[in-house]
Amino acid sequence: MLGGRSVLLGVTGGVAAFKAAYLARRLVESGATVRVIMTRASLEFIGPQTMAAITGSPPYTELFGTETVSPHTELAAWADVIVVAPATAATMARMAGGESDDLLVATILAFTGPVVVAPAMHTEMWEHPATRRNVTVLAADGIHLVGPVPGPLAGGDEGMGRMAEPEAILEAVIAALHGGDLAGWSVVVSAGGTREPVDPVRFLGNRSSGKMGNAIALTAARRGAAVTLVTTAPAPTHPRISVVPVDTAAEMAAAVWEAAAGCDVAVFAAAVADFRPAEPAPTKLRRADGPPEIRLESTPDILAGVAALQPRPFLVGFAAETGGTAAAAGKLTAKGVDVLVANDVTTPGIGFGADSNAVTVFTAGGSEEWPRQSKDAIANRLWDLVVRARSH
Ligand code: C5P
Repeated sequence: MLGGRSVLLGVTGGVAAFKAAYLARRLVESGATVRVIMTRASLEFIGPQTMAAITGSPPYTELFGTETVSPHTELAAWADVIVVAPATAATMARMAGGESDDLLVATILAFTGPVVVAPAMHTEMWEHPATRRNVTVLAADGIHLVGPVPGPLAGGDEGMGRMAEPEAILEAVIAALHGGDLAGWSVVVSAGGTREPVDPVRFLGNRSSGKMGNAIALTAARRGAAVTLVTTAPAPTHPRISVVPVDTAAEMAAAVWEAAAGCDVAVFAAAVADFRPAEPAPTKLRRADGPPEIRLESTPDILAGVAALQPRPFLVGFAAETGGTAAAAGKLTAKGVDVLVANDVTTPGIGFGADSNAVTVFTAGGSEEWPRQSKDAIANRLWDLVVRARSH
């Protein structure tokens, strides 16, 4: 999610500083390169060596007396996003006042990108008129605030002021980087492989894991869209994803058709069975009865049903091919989609079940190859393309 991104983590002097270590680790795990600025007060709560071990580089602590000529402008030029966690009342006050007399606030003032702030303090301090004023100023300055949340505080107290959990801060960093460019969009995604019953315990299925569809749904939600994910597979959790679990092509069709009316974009990442047993056996087939004759019938074409809507949403189809992606070229017009994403599922390391994919993307303007990369990266690139296409 943060592959290739440079994240500057500012740690200030509150007891929640110990959780900044876990946040740093989650940022690194998400693919970011992380550098850390620690204020002097934060060093009372957590050792710089901890941050160095997690991020691979020693934290910056001083504005003056370092070998670097201008640490604040260099760090500001390096970062794609700055996240301050925990942010004390004092640091927020200095940010709101533009008081750049320490390395962290000086760097924030020299930085033009998104800044995420995760406040942590006692309830009385959070509710004090001075902090209220500062929060209003920071929000007006475009700072992304995440939390605080209610819960146990330092010294055995309880109430509002606890730092948001590292996972929520990570989500806020991702959202801040993408700028919420899909906010206001309603998106439907089909994912996973359908299962068509042969008898009450057996089905005709396929090898789709749902990972590509999940990545498409999650990146859309993270970029601000309201997503309906119709899937046969385990789904990601996100406040803007509503999951409709289904099993068969018929169930998927009913759910997608209901959700797609009036939506802005529909993405068909599911591997839908083209045929299903016409008369599934009501009881388990028995070996003793010998090999059954299973008559098949066609399933509904879910995509075609949505393509026929008036007005129809922007449509993205997928084509899982074997033996190259050239055969998918005709599907752009045959299926009536705006974008067709084709992959060769027989290539090792990509496609069904894998965390990576390599695809050929067909649009009315031609085709492009997207080389092997994570399914998250493919999903983000696909949304970039849809944003461009829909703005024309
Ligand atoms: O199987 P095929 O390559 O034709 O699938 C192309 C696209 O059509 C895929 O996006 C798939 O999700 C969608 N599809 C569908 N309903 C079907 C079969 C395929 O929506 N019954």
